[in-house]
Amino acid sequence: MTTLITNIQELIQVRESNILKVSGQDMKRLPTIKNAYLLIDDDTIVGYGPMDDCNNMEADTVINASGKLVLPTWCDSHTHIVYAGNREQEFVDRINGLSYEDIANRGGGILNSAEKLQLTSEDDLYIQSANRLKQVMKLGTGAIEIKSGYGLTVEAELKMLRVIKRLKQNFPLKVKATLLAAHAVPKEYKDNKEGFVDLVINELIPKVAKEQLAKYIDVFCEKGYFDLNDTERILKAGKLHGLVPKIHVNQFNAFGGIEVAVNNQALSVDHLEELTLNDIEVLKTGETMPVALPSCSYFLSIPYTPGRKLIEAGLPLALATDYNPGSTPSGNMNFVVSTACIKMKLTPEEAINAATINGAYAMGISNMYGSITRGKKANIIITKPVPSYAYLPYAFGNNHIETVIINGQIV
Ligand code: NIG
Ligand code: FE
Repeated sequence: MTTLITNIQELIQVRESNILKVSGQDMKRLPTIKNAYLLIDDDTIVGYGPMDDCNNMEADTVINASGKLVLPTWCDSHTHIVYAGNREQEFVDRINGLSYEDIANRGGGILNSAEKLQLTSEDDLYIQSANRLKQVMKLGTGAIEIKSGYGLTVEAELKMLRVIKRLKQNFPLKVKATLLAAHAVPKEYKDNKEGFVDLVINELIPKVAKEQLAKYIDVFCEKGYFDLNDTERILKAGKLHGLVPKIHVNQFNAFGGIEVAVNNQALSVDHLEELTLNDIEVLKTGETMPVALPSCSYFLSIPYTPGRKLIEAGLPLALATDYNPGSTPSGNMNFVVSTACIKMKLTPEEAINAATINGAYAMGISNMYGSITRGKKANIIITKPVPSYAYLPYAFGNNHIETVIINGQIV
């Protein structure tokens, strides 16, 4: 089955060579072809170029994209879309003056979601999560990372990871699973955090690794949650079982978590709303991708990750949603790209690079996703007629997507 897209006003993020990420000044460059065609064979991109080179080309399906843009689907490298119920009451409590921290301290927050999840059957959890996944695909997401972390018991964590596995089997988009083993200290371990970390290391990690339910290991490294020593222990245990670190760090406090992550060859460090000069120097020494989550900053009214500082230091940057019931009940990468431009002062080129190729890198899949490259998966967005790619983040809050193709199929 071949699909030919013709008369594309501009084909965005065309990368001839198979680069895995873009950093620093290179992020300002977004390679495109104007008045282009794109050829797909089954689930793979097999050709593209200027319309002049498209003479007499035939295909099973032809789509005329006159006046429209074509770009790779978004690569959302940080989500928690497997969760039970919602937390809109906490949203109202915050409007009325409580802080995110106040809510967590009185047993709300992650513990609230964990209680709901423990009481939800695996099938019900699957249905709720599948609905969110359908919704984000329509919004142009073609690859997604999903974390556990609302289980807080061995059984409930395994339940979450089995749901992620079913989503992976039943949906066309690329799904990568992360064991967020230490997301919060469960009530039963309130005065025995060590005991919980021991449980994670001795029971949870080996079980998850044995059943191959996750590829990555995550920790919420933050004051009141897990400290540097806990983080180091968990990352090392995960690595011993073949899990690659990818952590929550520097959301509210900067106290050295990035160094622990980089020293353990983390694939990504995510949040970074608080960042020191030393953190930037440490990031320069490794291959770890910094990931910003601007819709979390928006929703919680906390600082935005200083993306400009990272890029100007020559570093790469990825953008992701953080879709979860507490800090970001939204999986809209279009909003993330807009917000990165508006609030973090990324240029449209930088934001699109961050949400495609660099997002793919933060999931370890940029060899197959994140750009229009021969041999990569045919995961593309066709926009409605729009004047230019800068118009996408500029006209924020509007839906500019007409068609989403994942694995060569319209979704
Ligand atoms: O990435 N920061 C930690 N975890 C999630 C939110 C957790 C919650 O409030 O449910 C995050 O923001
Ligand atoms: Fe998160």
